[in-house]
Amino acid sequence: MEATINGGIIYFVETGERGRLPVLFVHGFPFSSAMWDSQMEAVGRRCRAIACDIRGLGRSEVGDGQYTIEGHVDDLIGLLDRLEIDKTVVVGLSMGGYIALRTLERNPERFLAAVLCDTRAEADDNAGKLKRANGAASVKRHGAAAFAESFLPAVFAPESLRTKPEAVKLIKSIIAATPPLAIAGHLIAMAGRTDTTASLAAIGVPTLIMVGENDTLTPPALARAMHERIPGSKLYLVPGAGHMSNLENPEFFNSRLLEFLEGIAGG
Ligand code: MLT
Repeated sequence: MEATINGGIIYFVETGERGRLPVLFVHGFPFSSAMWDSQMEAVGRRCRAIACDIRGLGRSEVGDGQYTIEGHVDDLIGLLDRLEIDKTVVVGLSMGGYIALRTLERNPERFLAAVLCDTRAEADDNAGKLKRANGAASVKRHGAAAFAESFLPAVFAPESLRTKPEAVKLIKSIIAATPPLAIAGHLIAMAGRTDTTASLAAIGVPTLIMVGENDTLTPPALARAMHERIPGSKLYLVPGAGHMSNLENPEFFNSRLLEFLEGIAGG
């Protein structure tokens, strides 16, 4: 489905009954809602599950290639308004987590609960910003397929690269189909994001944190730091997984997610 939000076409998928607990999935960089297929199926049996393609990625409009996390927050709120969802559970992985954390900071009244996966509250340091700048220049020069080749070993655990060919193929094909302009635009958006660490202590909704035990991009130490700051939060390390914890160990990920959602739905 598509909706025009803040002047651009935003694509989303929706499953499950409308009257049930809304759960909004926000993907990482530079992926699409397709990374949530297994969760959409599992969660859609019990909740109203929605997964959107962030502006510029997946099937959403690329536009001018200039993005900010603030703009993505505006889009998320615009989509909730369009779907007439007053309050939702948000599930964000990595960049989806950056967007979720900033939305929780800006619009806490729109949330019932949060699930933060393989993400962090800290902004990029100088080394991180320079890496983004190099990545943006490189993807425009060498294209998305080359970017995908170099990105895969950073997001999947070495074991998953061998044992999860379907998941690796999915992510590779999503990245390769993404316009270099949109990849570069998101690297710049992430380099310019704000630090949400100071507001973690103010998160007042139930929060589940999950991170692949072998995640090297947003390692468990960062998840533990968020867990210590977010009152009453739960933390699980996803066995055997790297950065793509929902794809690398969907059995573990889905069971913890469903258990958490049951607690929210049950009130
Ligand atoms: C993601 O998975 O969204 C990105 O790798 C996050 C990042 O590069 O900071």
